[in-house]
Amino acid sequence: MNGALFLGKRAMLQTTLAGVTLPTPLVLASGIIGTSATLLTRAAALGAGAVTAKSAGPELRKGHRNPICFDWGEGLINAVGLPNPGATHEADLLAAAKQALAPSRVALIASIFAGTPEQFAAVAQIVLQANPDILELNISCPNVHDDFGEPFAASCAGAASVAAAVKPLCRAAGVPMFIKLAPNVPNIGRIAADAVAAGADGITAINTMPGMVIDIESARPILTNRSGGLSGPMLRPIAVRCVYEIAEAVPGTPIIGTGGVTSGADAIEMLMAGATAVGVGSAIYYRGLEAMQQISEEMTLWLQSHGVASLDDIRGMAHR
Ligand SMILES: Cc1cc2nc3c(=O)[nH]c(=O)nc-3n(C[C@H](O)[C@H](O)[C@H](O)COP(=O)(O)O)c2cc1C
Repeated sequence: MNGALFLGKRAMLQTTLAGVTLPTPLVLASGIIGTSATLLTRAAALGAGAVTAKSAGPELRKGHRNPICFDWGEGLINAVGLPNPGATHEADLLAAAKQALAPSRVALIASIFAGTPEQFAAVAQIVLQANPDILELNISCPNVHDDFGEPFAASCAGAASVAAAVKPLCRAAGVPMFIKLAPNVPNIGRIAADAVAAGADGITAINTMPGMVIDIESARPILTNRSGGLSGPMLRPIAVRCVYEIAEAVPGTPIIGTGGVTSGADAIEMLMAGATAVGVGSAIYYRGLEAMQQISEEMTLWLQSHGVASLDDIRGMAHR
């Protein structure tokens, strides 16, 4: 490809997310390929504008026993159970990933979870030492009720309490703080608004949607955890609706629209709903890590064929 043309294409997709410049609007979603520097830099080389690490908590967790994830035909269902090495080891992995990503200028998003707002702050303090570009608070994992109770994302007060506890640390570190919300709530816009009022700089929407698949021969749920989180194509209209409602509730707040995005057309739809950037998760299962490259090329082709010079021209278009 001719150099000027290549630069033009990159410029077309360049995105600013809460003050962080991303080469493309595509954000590798949390939990899809872990926190390994090797895999994260590969996603970066293939067209991700930011990569999100696997969520880490206060201590090492092994997660649930197999089966933890499978393709049920219309998407994936998983209950991995947040396996992670604990905050201290995670900070080392994040520091290595940050260093490896530096030449590409692809942003690193750290993701954390915990059982109380105070624990969230303690984990944040540790992982912020790795200097991620953004910190994402996963308050919406649907698969760990037994250990952590109802997710904080289930209520305005829960979301706000975590945001308020972590905000002073993010402010001191100069790191934007995103809150990851759940789709299974009656009014996601209100929860986003309270999280933003409590200090969130941006919203990631959405996490997986709780579901269950039963094997009718054994008459038992297939996942060891019984229920799991649905992701992939069937999640997309739910995610688009959530992003649309958040954009209405907190106009101007950066949103990483995540859920079921598998093609360039899906990513364009998410931007039109009001997303600033677009999360890509299960598409990696369907299309491989090359999904990043394919989606960014498909987006570029769509923009060119519609005479659109900048993503800003289509962001939030469905609200007009
Ligand atoms: C196997 C698997 C593991 C996941 N682990 C995490 C995680 O650790 N933290 C998190 O915030 N989200 C996690 N998610 C949710 C994704 O980040 C994303 O929000 C969700 O899958 C919807 O996007 P998608 O349809 O593009 O996959 C996980 C999803 C899958 C499929």
